[in-house]
Amino acid sequence: MDNKKIEEIKKLIESEKENIKDQNSLNDYRVKFLGKKGLVTELSSMMKDVKPEDRKEAGKTLNELKQEVNTIIEEKKEQIEKELWDKKLQSEKIDISLPATKIKKGAPNILEKLIEDIEEYFMSLGYDVVDGPEVEEDRYNFELLNIPKGHPARDAQDTFYIEDEEILLRSQTSPVQIRTMLKGKGKEPIRMICPGKTYRRDDDDATHSHQFMQIEGLLVDKNISLSDLKGTFDGIAKHLFGHDCKTRFRPSYYQFTEPSVETDISCFVCHGDGCSLCKDTGWLTVSGAGMVHPNVLRNCGYDPKEWSGFAFGFGAERLAMLKYGIDDIRTFYQTDLREAEIFDRKESEIDD
Ligand code: DAH
Repeated sequence: MDNKKIEEIKKLIESEKENIKDQNSLNDYRVKFLGKKGLVTELSSMMKDVKPEDRKEAGKTLNELKQEVNTIIEEKKEQIEKELWDKKLQSEKIDISLPATKIKKGAPNILEKLIEDIEEYFMSLGYDVVDGPEVEEDRYNFELLNIPKGHPARDAQDTFYIEDEEILLRSQTSPVQIRTMLKGKGKEPIRMICPGKTYRRDDDDATHSHQFMQIEGLLVDKNISLSDLKGTFDGIAKHLFGHDCKTRFRPSYYQFTEPSVETDISCFVCHGDGCSLCKDTGWLTVSGAGMVHPNVLRNCGYDPKEWSGFAFGFGAERLAMLKYGIDDIRTFYQTDLREAEIFDRKESEIDD
């Protein structure tokens, strides 16, 4: 074998090594020396021409060359892979000093919360929480509540009728009073609270909504008087608006109660001095109420000489608007997360 050629190849093996920068150039290098027509491979094919006595030495040299090329390839391969890894790690590096993205926290609907609170309060007094249909019959929504067809009191509750004049979307939760009394016969005392949706053909604005929530309450037993209603109302008002809250009744008129009252709480903003919330009266009206009308008792099979009861109906949104200082009823029905946050904040302020 030609020693000069071997020396030249050796030099090339060393110098070409510097050109290996990536997988492609590594492959070129391998082909250049060990490929089919590679320089080292060509040398191997010359072995047959080497004299037998020199063959051992020539074989050794050839192996050394191959070994050298392979070692360089291995080293470079490792180096290239390491570089690739480093690059990848660098690009995927997580900067733990960056502030985390804030995950939006959901907040329970403020109406739901208020209703749950009222339910729990009344449950602790032995009341049942009951449900009634939103698609209601005229007789429950009006007739058995002492509001016959053609009665002017119906006009105030502009009703959505579904079928003729008989099936409607309930315009109040008061029909649940009737359903509860009819079902409760023999299981007195009747103590129920019914939160639920109600519907009226109102144009939506800041204080009106065609769909809103009422919370109906009813108690029927023997010897129930207006002072029981007053005590009950006083209790829930203090529970909701604090122990300083005072209450009063004003005469009113509902077909299904006699006497009927409007229930007021003392204004928690000005404490009676007068402000814009209470329109300088010092009082805020929060519900209608009264003693169950004898006709209604009779309609449900109760003898008014033996039985008496009281009933009340809160507007849930009105209560929530007062409690949380919300000035537009539509706020409750918008799916704007910012509102939920405002409610949440207001509530923690109230809790603090
Ligand atoms: N149902 C009445 C309304 O929607 C509110 C109401 C008033 C309910 C007096 C009552 C009550 O139970 O006793 O205007």
